[in-house]
Amino acid sequence: MATKRVRLPEPPPSEGSGSTPLTIEFPTEQPFLPTREHSRFVEFAEACSRYRYIGVCHGRPGVGKTRSAREFASFPNLQSYGVLGSLAPSLVAEISKCQAIFYTVTVSNTPKTIDAVLGTNLTKMGYARLTISAGSSENANYEAARRACPLVIIDEADRLTIKSLEHLRDLSDQNGFGLVLMGMPGLEKRLAR
Ligand SMILES: Nc1ncnc2c1ncn2[C@@H]1O[C@H](COP(=O)(O)OP(=O)(O)OP(=O)(O)O)[C@@H](O)[C@H]1O
Ligand SMILES: [Mg+2]
Repeated sequence: MATKRVRLPEPPPSEGSGSTPLTIEFPTEQPFLPTREHSRFVEFAEACSRYRYIGVCHGRPGVGKTRSAREFASFPNLQSYGVLGSLAPSLVAEISKCQAIFYTVTVSNTPKTIDAVLGTNLTKMGYARLTISAGSSENANYEAARRACPLVIIDEADRLTIKSLEHLRDLSDQNGFGLVLMGMPGLEKRLAR
């Protein structure tokens, strides 16, 4: 993996400290390569989005599932956006090209932890999309906002407990979004069971 060297300013000299500067190496990501597998993923994710299917995408570790899904989703960081708050022009541009909400399952997961992150992002993204499409947030409401996102991509779906999986399926039913579950080979068999 490529790395970028960042040299920190030298601290003021103090008694007993050595003169070696501290260097921290931050990893940098390789530019995205539009592979054949990525095109297949896009086709699959678009179908799940259009017909609101629940789809399973599995592949060996390191094959590029996460990178491909992130590239397709273009899901922006919504931390700075408060529901019904103003939208910065840069965020409007990012939300307009976002195709799916991307969520990585945490190692320890429950319906509550899923609601805290995915549920919040679903609500925020919905309000933002309604606001952008109508030109104002005047008529936006919670129910409409929760139904305004066509697709959610779940990464590391192997980690989902049975309860969390049921919860996701319920969220998808209630809010009408398509769902892509991504994980290792064997995930499809586990889900079938
Ligand atoms: N199309 C691509 N263009 C550039 N880099 C890529 C591409 N696909 C994958 N990579 C790189 O390969 C590495 C592994 O990819 P990624 O994390 O997406 O794999 P994964 O299938 O999600 O693995 P895991 O099953 O372990 O989660 C990453 O460093 C990623 O940036
Ligand atoms: Mg991955």
